[in-house]
Amino acid sequence: MNASWTSTPSGGSTALTADPEAVRARDRRHVWHTWTPLAADRSALTVSHGAGHHVWDIDGNVYLDASALNSTCGYARPEVLRAMVEQASRLHHFDLSVAGHEPAGLLAERLAGLLPAGLDRTLFVNSGSEGFDAAVLMAVSYWSHLDRPRSRVVTFARSYHGATLLSRSLSTLPRNRHPLGSPLPVTRVELPAEPRSLREEPALPALLAAFEEAIGTDPDDLPAAVVVEPFLNVGGAVVLPPGFLRELRALCDATGALLVVDEVFTAYGRCGAMFAALRDDVTPDILVSSKGLSGGYVPIAAVSVRRNVHESFARDPVIGGLRYGHTTSGHAVACAAALATLDVLEKERLPERAERLGADLLRRLAPLAGAPGVLDVRGFGLILVVETESPELAARVLTHARQAGLLLRQVGAAVMAVPPLVIDDEGAAAVADGLTAALARAVA
Ligand SMILES: Cc1ncc(COP(=O)(O)O)c(C=O)c1O
Repeated sequence: MNASWTSTPSGGSTALTADPEAVRARDRRHVWHTWTPLAADRSALTVSHGAGHHVWDIDGNVYLDASALNSTCGYARPEVLRAMVEQASRLHHFDLSVAGHEPAGLLAERLAGLLPAGLDRTLFVNSGSEGFDAAVLMAVSYWSHLDRPRSRVVTFARSYHGATLLSRSLSTLPRNRHPLGSPLPVTRVELPAEPRSLREEPALPALLAAFEEAIGTDPDDLPAAVVVEPFLNVGGAVVLPPGFLRELRALCDATGALLVVDEVFTAYGRCGAMFAALRDDVTPDILVSSKGLSGGYVPIAAVSVRRNVHESFARDPVIGGLRYGHTTSGHAVACAAALATLDVLEKERLPERAERLGADLLRRLAPLAGAPGVLDVRGFGLILVVETESPELAARVLTHARQAGLLLRQVGAAVMAVPPLVIDDEGAAAVADGLTAALARAVA
């Protein structure tokens, strides 16, 4: 059988499969897709390869990918690929509970230099969900190490911190429901206004008042931690008012509650800065990051903590340290990929570029705010959100965009564009034009 071929923008060529229907049929028979209704057929788009901000499907169609939450330096970035191969050839991994290896040390040191000052110790895990579980375990353990036990956690009702039992127990999102009960007491803050009224500064006092009430003043029931995302991704693509993290830090300081910031989605340039905490000039007690860290090339997440949290674990009664980790935590190839990704991020100043391109895209999309079917247009760094009047309309926008060669994401009634941070001006303009055209077709 003859495979067909496509050229990639970087000049290489990649074989397409000889029998696309057989590939799709195998997927339908054997792959259990994450977060997907059984009736849906994800094999309808089966991706073959990518380069830069484009991907090709197995039929040879090319798409501009504005759907990958973790894409920083795009597809097939030679520096990242080289770093991974070199590391795998030398030492693919060694269990960090037994020994050290250089890539883990280099990455942890590099993060200490990039993160808000004071977050200089990092635990590596494999996913955002695991990182979040570790962070909450650390926060609650911290208080028992001080002999002042606290276990309550305050968070957004619409939060999404992951798929594990602990992380999903915090949220009230229907997709996170489970029948196993809550592992710890949680106070959930409802948004005081619709997302479209929350993104400006005037929304800040009501939001803070809701957190202040949730934190409370009862000395016997103060929270161990307040855990928040700087942008509610799964919870409705919600942009929070500027200054929120800074004011929340002050509320935490007043009660001793640890501030845990979940930057799994926002870190490494996506929010228009290396970290959203830096935008608000805030040092959390614990910061969880993942997606952009290795640009999606290999799974890795980082839980970075202040020294007092780390040092408290000397008082752990069982091993005098953290009783958490995975065989593949701090995988050497993942650390090498992350170091190479950070090189690209810094060399090409991708956080600044994300801020500039995001502002440009927001300007181009802003006129849609008055269009039929659209409730709001908002953005945070290189995250662009067009909130429509219904999930059905948002789904139709995605379908029309895909037919025209643009991949977008849907969050409820919102359409979200998250192109790789390396996208160029021309690509960003194509995202705006493609989304605008898809919306026009979807409402027609
Ligand atoms: C803010 C946030 N936290 C945690 C997670 C969970 O990360 P993972 O899917 O890597 O487990 C996600 C994933 O979308 C996220 O957006």
